[in-house]
Amino acid sequence: MIIAANFKTNHTRESTREYLEKLDSFLIKNSIKDDVFVFPPFTALNRYAIISDNLEIGVQNAYPVEKGSFTGEIGLEQLSEFKVKNIIIGHSERRHILKESQEFVAEKFSFFKSNGFRIIYCVGEPIEVREKGFEAVMDYIYSQLENIDLNYDKLIVAYEPVWAIGTGLSAKEEDIKEVLDALRLKIKSPLLYGGSVKPSNAKEILRIPNCDGLLIGTASWDVDTFCDIIMISKLVAEE
Ligand code: 13P
Repeated sequence: MIIAANFKTNHTRESTREYLEKLDSFLIKNSIKDDVFVFPPFTALNRYAIISDNLEIGVQNAYPVEKGSFTGEIGLEQLSEFKVKNIIIGHSERRHILKESQEFVAEKFSFFKSNGFRIIYCVGEPIEVREKGFEAVMDYIYSQLENIDLNYDKLIVAYEPVWAIGTGLSAKEEDIKEVLDALRLKIKSPLLYGGSVKPSNAKEILRIPNCDGLLIGTASWDVDTFCDIIMISKLVAEE
């Protein structure tokens, strides 16, 4: 399974270092076989001395360019310095708060694909679409897959309903199942769920047939809580 921590705009360079040290030794001590990703803020990037084979660092965003004049952005040259090869693209906070269009999201996808990045590609509907029913939800999600190469071998897709992100209110299991089942018809890559995942609901979500893992915001910011969820995923995988 894949368990990913999206720090968003949280943690400092120092607290990220402490977090990763603790997480790394937890994974080694418990022989965790999950693929575990941590996406810290840019300021906390470093060449971390991570020992666990399956712990990887990634970025929450980057500009689709080697280098150039894009004030406030970072490109491939800056990521290469830290040997970062994992990126989140299409997160709802970038689509809705930062107004990234599908065209731009797809441009980022192509750029980082052509540079061999593992891409966690996010899709998910806002509440007004969810209220219209499943068909409207899938139409919305399919529009977020436009011009995305779904056969890319380093693709991971995360279904994150916008209304479930950071609200404490996860989607219902049957709603998650319905969307993941529909995505599975088009996508062979791992499918994740994200949106108010916490230790109390992780087991039920991970048991959903087409759910290959979790993308976690709030509950991942505390390393002990994140380790609890990883432990739950280990138990579900062993069931
Ligand atoms: P929360 O876990 O805080 O709902 O955030 C989910 C998310 O956006 C992960 O990318």
